Order: sequence, then structure tokens, then C-alpha cells
Amino acid sequence: MAKRPRSHASSKALSDTGLRFRLLVDSVIDYAIFMLDTEGRVVTWNPGAERIKGYRAQEIRGRHYSCFYPEEALRAGTPAHLLQVAAAEGRCEDEGWRLRKDGSRFWANVVITAVRDGAGRLRGFSKVTRDLTEPRRAQEALEEKTRALEAAQEALVRRERLAILGQLAGGLSHELRNPLGVVKNSAYYLRMVLPADEAARKHLAIIEREVQTANRIVTALLDFARVSVPRRVPSDLNAMVRARLEREAVPDGVTVTAALAEDLPLVAVDSEQIVLAIGNLILNALQAMPGGGTLTVETSWTAQDVLIGVTDTGVGIAPEHVDKIFEPLFTTKARGIGLGLAVVKRLLEANGGRITVESTPRQGSRFLVRFPRASEDS
Ligand SMILES: Nc1ncnc2c1ncn2[C@@H]1O[C@H](COP(=O)(O)OP(=O)(O)OP(=O)(O)O)[C@@H](O)[C@H]1O
Ligand SMILES: [Mg+2]
Repeated sequence: MAKRPRSHASSKALSDTGLRFRLLVDSVIDYAIFMLDTEGRVVTWNPGAERIKGYRAQEIRGRHYSCFYPEEALRAGTPAHLLQVAAAEGRCEDEGWRLRKDGSRFWANVVITAVRDGAGRLRGFSKVTRDLTEPRRAQEALEEKTRALEAAQEALVRRERLAILGQLAGGLSHELRNPLGVVKNSAYYLRMVLPADEAARKHLAIIEREVQTANRIVTALLDFARVSVPRRVPSDLNAMVRARLEREAVPDGVTVTAALAEDLPLVAVDSEQIVLAIGNLILNALQAMPGGGTLTVETSWTAQDVLIGVTDTGVGIAPEHVDKIFEPLFTTKARGIGLGLAVVKRLLEANGGRITVESTPRQGSRFLVRFPRASEDS
């Protein structure tokens, strides 16, 4: 059989295993494939390694492979550890952030294999690295989107639940008003006609007190259910705080301090609703100081916001409760309903405000309300 000289020459060359292997490795550009000596210094380098890591063969040969690892992996001793595992077990796989020559990071999948000679002596390591940055980014973006979607769904469920609860509370309290009124009137009648019997009068007093409590609950439920669309006009928060504090019956042992900022900008709110919200915050603050203390109501402003702070030196809020206190029906009080702060939050949000809280158990709490400044033309 006659063979053409060129193909004869190349097939002869390809029969040389070493050359064939080198050609194979040199043709790979999607994987960094290279050898390390037993110490971890780079011995060979392929075009894939150059493409992924950014070093040329002549500048990286002889350098220790730990230069591919970021600071935190070096501190953890990862490069040496991976070689130890590969030497002990024959092979080691790892995934993590690695550094390119220009300092940028890429997400790498790495397989390190121990290379031994016929006598079983360790001669070095082969290392194959894949750049998985893109799939990783795509996965991260997907996870981020999923999280955002879940949060939106949760918010929706919460809002729906609140709306239903509001309707239910509104309907129920309306229905309860009438029978409570009847009980109250009947108790009043009995008080008039009953002889001066000590025990009977005591029980009447109990009935009247409990009716009063039930009425308080009904009012709170109605407040919660009936947060109406606010009539927002530029208003002065200082005036609202003053009006509210004037009405306040301050318990013995409590000192009230008002620190109202001068030149406080106006905010576009429904002042009736905001007075109600401030009132609930003050009531909570006073209830938190059964042994007395200081209630401070202050106003202040920044370039963007106008703020009201309500601070007490009371019992404080347990860290595990802080996230729950604005939820309807959450209460830690024996006679509480747990609607005060839920109403506050609804009222503030309807008026463009936000509320945050900081608290230290046994030292006190500070509720901070923030409204955006009314724009000139509002
Ligand atoms: N200033 C405060 N200091 C300490 N704890 C507070 C304060 N304000 C609120 N809390 C906590 O938050 C909970 C919820 O408050 P919220 O006003 O919503 O309900 P409540 O005061 O318990 O009952 P009510 O419906 O009568 O207001 C309280 O039970 C209390 O545990
Ligand atoms: Mg309350």
C-alpha cells in the first residue's frame, strides 16, 4: 500500500505517546490542565490555564500554586491541605473562589490527582480547573429572584390576612356593641331598684367593670378595622404632640419631658390619625413604667425627614419579641389586647410614615416615627 509521505510522517509522530498527550492537553482551552511538583510548584501549563487564570506559561512556571487562592483560603491553609488530601487519597475535588492574575475572582471546580511513578513514589500532582463563574452567577441570580418572590408573596398573604382580620373585627365589634349596651343598661336599672345588699352590689360592680373592659376591646377592634383613608394636609407635628400631652393623665412617679425642635417642617398627614398613633405609643410607654420613670417625647428633622421619638425608661422589650410587637393580637400584658401597635403601624403607613424601635430589657424603649418632609407644592 502506497502512503503519502505527509500522512506517514504525522501518524508516526502521533504514535509517540508523550507527544500525543501534549497535543491533546495543548488543544484544550476550556479547562486549565497543568502539573505541580510534589511541593506544589507549577511545572506545566496549557492554553486553557492561560485563558482561565491569565498567566503565560513562562511567568507562572516554578511559582507555587497558592498564588491562585484568595486571602481567606490562604489563611485557612487550603492549598497545602488539598495537596495533602490528594497525596493521601489519590484524588481531591474542591470548589471555591480563585484569583486570576489581574486580581479578579472566578468560581472554580478543581480536581487534584496525585501522580506516582511505577514504584509508587509521589512525583507531583495533576490539576484540572474549570471556570464555573457563569453558571454560579446564574444560580445566584435565580436564588435572589426566588427570595424576592417569596418575600412579595409573604407580604401579600400578610396584607390579605390583615384585611380579613380587619373586616372580621369590624363586623364582630359592631355586633357586640348592642348586647353590651343592653347589659350596661340592665345593670344600671338593677342598681336603682336593688335593696342595699352588699353582695349584690359587689356583683353589679363586677358586671359594670367587665362591660367596661369589653367596650374597651370593642373600641380597639373598631380602631383597628376602621383605619380610614387619611385626609393628608401639611401639618405641624409639634402641635399634635402638645395637644396629646396636654390631655395625658400622667401617673405618679412619671416625669414627662417634651423636647420639640424649633422650625419643624410641616408634614402631609391626617393630624387626627397621628394624634391617635402618638397616644398609643405614649400609653404603652406609661404602661411600661409601673414603678415610675421618665417619658420623653421629642421631635427633630433632617434634610429628608421629620421625626417623633417616644422614649421610656421602663421594662423594655425582650429581643425575641421585637419582631412581633406590631402584629395584631400580640400582647405580653394580662389585660392587653395587642392591637395598640398594629393600629399605630397601620395609621402611620397610611400617612406615609414608618416606625422603628430600639429597646434594652430593664432599661427602656425608644419608638422612632419618621415622615418624609412635605414637598413645597403639597
Ligand atoms: N414602650 C414599651 N415598652 C415595653 N414593651 C412594649 C412597649 N410598647 C409595646 N410593648 C410590647 O409590645 C406589645 C404589643 O403592644 P400593643 O400596644 O400592640 O398591645 P398591648 O399594649 O399589649 O395591648 P393594647 O391592645 O391594649 O394596646 C406589648 O404587650 C408589650 O409587650
Ligand atoms: Mg398598647
